[in-house]
Amino acid sequence: MSDIVSRPNNPLFGANRLKIGIFGTNGKGSAHTLVPEAFKPSWDNVLNTARIADDAGYEAIVAYARWKGYIQGRVSHPSGIILDPFTYAAGVAQATSHAAIFATSHAPTIHPIAAAKQCATIDIISNGRLVLNVVAGWNKPELEMFGAPLKEHTERYEHLAEWLQIIERLWSENEEFDHEGKFFKIIKGMSMPKPLQAPRPPIMSAGGSDTGRRFACEHADICFLLLHSEDPKEWEQQISAYKKFAREEFGRSVQVWTYAPVVQRDTMKEAQDYLHHYAVENQDKDSVDGWIAGNAATAKGMSPETLQNLRTHFAAGGGGNQLVGTADHIAEKLHQLSDAGLDGILFTWVDFMDGLQRFNRDIMPMLEMRGLRAPFKASAQHAA
Ligand SMILES: Cc1cc2nc3c(=O)[nH]c(=O)nc-3n(C[C@H](O)[C@H](O)[C@H](O)COP(=O)(O)O)c2cc1C
Repeated sequence: MSDIVSRPNNPLFGANRLKIGIFGTNGKGSAHTLVPEAFKPSWDNVLNTARIADDAGYEAIVAYARWKGYIQGRVSHPSGIILDPFTYAAGVAQATSHAAIFATSHAPTIHPIAAAKQCATIDIISNGRLVLNVVAGWNKPELEMFGAPLKEHTERYEHLAEWLQIIERLWSENEEFDHEGKFFKIIKGMSMPKPLQAPRPPIMSAGGSDTGRRFACEHADICFLLLHSEDPKEWEQQISAYKKFAREEFGRSVQVWTYAPVVQRDTMKEAQDYLHHYAVENQDKDSVDGWIAGNAATAKGMSPETLQNLRTHFAAGGGGNQLVGTADHIAEKLHQLSDAGLDGILFTWVDFMDGLQRFNRDIMPMLEMRGLRAPFKASAQHAA
């Protein structure tokens, strides 16, 4: 692969010290709640939220990949109502002009030749704003639907690495090539057209385990992690350890991002009360149970006990440090995260429209005052 880097339209590599994005509007977001205002992925809702974020200069719009919900037998539960991330990314790319659009994929659910071509197409539609988020998978029933039983943990990441290697070759090589590996056999592989970004569209990866971390540091440009503490000193240690590992082990420099559920209100009490209302009083308990059971059975990041203790935390937004309070409080916490070395953060809200509007009105100017972000001027009109 060539060393030339050309990603002029991808804002992930822009000057803002703290980059921001939205996560999960191709599904219900991340909260496990029964409140009626919880986000639903109608196409109007997807477009409205994407355009609000894009107009305000957000750097990232991230779709997750899920093929089946995590409550056995409840096929119409919101955890299983998820738009396909590639076609979502293509549609959102056409409707926006600034943000990077992230599609997410597991290795066993789509052949690398198909994934490579879809990514190249979205990169062309978006004029060079695609990012591919690669995940090893944890939700056993969804992979079993494909006749692809969830592999042993280390093997999952070997599979993902080989899958990604083929995609990268298809993106970059101009001659047909054969590939015979542990998981794939490709005869005279090729893919045209190529993506616009060089040497390839950026890769993101989020793994909680040591193997997942190693994979992300070796292959990804953006490593996603969940911060283990509420203490800014520990954030700094965790983030710098990640970057150091990528540098020393693989000679690579990576961005580190995290994600956070946001509850912004005029007072701390109002914010705490709303959090309690949606994540405790109206918790979707079946959904939390299903999510914990799936994760406990297959992921390596946390023990079953830790998972149970974090029920309310998961209900609030699937883990992640919470940003709950006044605009001032949230801006201060974001500043601390940036000072700890964090490059970017994805937000989820119970009600994305309401949350985005509050954030853009109150917090965005504070981030600009603090020098974390520059005021944004949209450069192009959205397509109809
Ligand atoms: C921000 C974020 C996004 C993720 N998106 C997905 C996803 O779209 N689909 C999926 O199956 N897993 C997703 N995961 C799960 C991880 O890819 C990974 O499987 C999980 O963190 C367990 O880590 P491990 O594989 O290292 O054990 C996501 C995790 C995080 C933190």
